[in-house]
Amino acid sequence: MFQHVDAYAGDPILSLNEAFQKDPRANKINLSIGIYFDDEGRIPMLDSVRKAELAVVADAGARPYLPMEGAANFRTAVQHLLFGAEHPALKAGRIVTIQAVGSSGGLKVGADFIKRYFPDSAVYVSEPTWDNHRAVFEGSGIEVKNYPYYDPATGGLRFDAMLAALREMPKKSVVLLHACCHNPTGVDLTPAQWQQLVPVLRERELLPFLDLAYQGYGDGIEEDAYAVRLLADEGLSFFIANSFSKSMSLYGERCGALSVVCPDAAQAALVMGQLKAAIRRNYSNPPMHGGQLVARVLSTPELRAAWEAEVKGMRERIKAMRKSLHSVLSAKLPGRDFGYFLSQHGMFSYTGLTPEQVERLKAEFGVYVLRSGRMCVAGLNTRNVEAVAVAMAAVLAD
Ligand code: LMR
Repeated sequence: MFQHVDAYAGDPILSLNEAFQKDPRANKINLSIGIYFDDEGRIPMLDSVRKAELAVVADAGARPYLPMEGAANFRTAVQHLLFGAEHPALKAGRIVTIQAVGSSGGLKVGADFIKRYFPDSAVYVSEPTWDNHRAVFEGSGIEVKNYPYYDPATGGLRFDAMLAALREMPKKSVVLLHACCHNPTGVDLTPAQWQQLVPVLRERELLPFLDLAYQGYGDGIEEDAYAVRLLADEGLSFFIANSFSKSMSLYGERCGALSVVCPDAAQAALVMGQLKAAIRRNYSNPPMHGGQLVARVLSTPELRAAWEAEVKGMRERIKAMRKSLHSVLSAKLPGRDFGYFLSQHGMFSYTGLTPEQVERLKAEFGVYVLRSGRMCVAGLNTRNVEAVAVAMAAVLAD
């Protein structure tokens, strides 16, 4: 019956993480998956989230289905976090938000909507991008193409080439942009570069689709929403998928959202209706618990302040690890430039390691990074950073 089914090649991130879990070596180090580990190597349970959970559980009652679009308090809290509570587009009813099963769920609902209402549009993703972007959009039957982004020669951004590519895109093309902490490279646009993008997006009538999965891990919670607010301030129509997996350490609760900024409230109502239809076709309605934790943290002033401080702590620990790795590697391999560890933002750095070097890191040293050379810097800690630097120096020196 099923002999014609193709064997699954596995996922470049999740399957590698599974391989790590099965590796019996005690000294193994996981720098593969995008998860924040604390200095003890543990996934933290944030104190703000723990307190919110106690309060949510204490108040818990019956568990009816949520509406297709999710819980109203969660959706409002997300809108205020992304756009600011007073944003004129919010006041005008031009923004619709649905609760999603992680930001992957938000991307999927958005992709289904795009396939139905922009059937001739391709989605352009940065070269490179998160491995699952292509899979999600292709899974909805959309053609996926690349635009230039990362410059391996400098470890920075090919901004002029990116802009030139946008100028050539057919009208109504969808452009997937990482709002902060680009995954996998850690290379972000500056505010000035975002501003330069706006007229091109407008003139070419492009449809930006922002992915904001790492809010707070770049420069700050507000700062990392810069691109979202700029595009909204400029009156553009766009999609944004966001996530609380990393910022609230709620990976398994699958808390995310999809928002669509529309030209007016009437169009927003039409879009909301079709997002609900897409949700119904996929999974009917989202789960309740995680979204209530997020809503409680965001809307309770003491918990919100505590959460912001915890996010700051995670962000600063990653920056400290970047500095440590940079200084140990620079000492071990003088003459090589590891400045990219300092200039790249967020959880990830693109190391430039070749697939062969990545394989050696795993086989000889038990250090797991993605085959593309992406390293999750948030997996480093004061006890393993030296070992990682030694391993990297060894594979780079040969
Ligand atoms: C990652 O990029 O490693 C994370 O976003 C986890 C995932 O689902 O791929």
